[in-house]
Amino acid sequence: MTKLYDSIRAISWKADGLYLLDQRKLPQQYTELHLTTAPAVADAIRDMVVRGAPAIGIAAAFAVVSSAIEHQSLDYDARIEKILEDIVTLSESRPTAVNLFWALDKMKQCLQSTQVNDENLVQVMLDQATLIRDQDVQANYQMGEYGASLLQQDAGAVLTHCNAGALATGGYGTALGVIRSAYSAGKINQVFADETRPWMQGARLTAWEFVKDGIPVTLLCEGAAASLMQQGKVSWVIVGSDRIAANGDVANKIGTYSLAILAKHHGVKFMVAAPTSTIDMKTATGAEIPIEQRAASEVFGCGEHRVATEGAQAWNPAFDVTPAALVDAIVTEKGVIEHPTLEKMQLHMSQKV
Ligand code: MRU
Repeated sequence: MTKLYDSIRAISWKADGLYLLDQRKLPQQYTELHLTTAPAVADAIRDMVVRGAPAIGIAAAFAVVSSAIEHQSLDYDARIEKILEDIVTLSESRPTAVNLFWALDKMKQCLQSTQVNDENLVQVMLDQATLIRDQDVQANYQMGEYGASLLQQDAGAVLTHCNAGALATGGYGTALGVIRSAYSAGKINQVFADETRPWMQGARLTAWEFVKDGIPVTLLCEGAAASLMQQGKVSWVIVGSDRIAANGDVANKIGTYSLAILAKHHGVKFMVAAPTSTIDMKTATGAEIPIEQRAASEVFGCGEHRVATEGAQAWNPAFDVTPAALVDAIVTEKGVIEHPTLEKMQLHMSQKV
């Protein structure tokens, strides 16, 4: 399937291993890091070289391949043990995005399959990691179609938060995939993007993606979102997710919950686009989703530049939970769940694509 607005890839596997586009440096610099060990990839995930739930899972899957290559000289049992240790290290990099654990589980199952032996291990693992990435891109294309179909023909402008784009996935994006598809279909003419304090994913990454694609994008401080909605400037809020609980509660970048409340108050629709690898049916409600706390230094400044007064403390949860009752639609590669409930989520997850 060839798509318009689909030129960005943040994760690539080459003959000599894994390359990650360094998202800490965008948009000022376009630099790729070449990483050859799983602990190096775990650090890259923690440090936000690669970020966004599906992208974290894909990078971790390729890191397991790197581990299989690195430990090639060991005898088979010792090699498997080292790879399993690396899987644990990767799983400790960030806690909220369930795609990380989902992808590592897939790699582990593959590692422990009876088809695998010392000779074919690297190839089998590489095939699995490649499949995870390729299926993610296909899922994004599907979500793009389903999500765009929910928008009225003259939807005008939409608002998004953080970066749920090509950079956050195997390519094309979840929320930004829906927006790309809706723009291609002529349904929207403008995207508003929250700058997304403190890490500025909106200002640095989402705006970069849209400017690169020639899709009109307007940045705002998230504090301006209420006024934007009050003035009737957007018809939908469209966001991604790091983990969706069994009852449809949605964890996403801090500030998403405020947008959902604002959207409800102003009669603006609220859509979450996420592949089924983001749905965690083992977590009953949003209250059980582990929320990452990040360093106070992110709040004290902007990038390297210190802004806050010395002596203050900071509270820096990276994610919040939007209750299912505030969500108009969850869109996955399987279709649309309107006004999610446990029963609807269970039915959706039991369906074949
Ligand atoms: O801290 P980040 O940048 O990894 O947070 C990313 C988000 O919150 C995204 O919205 C989410 O992972 C969905 S990405 C398709």
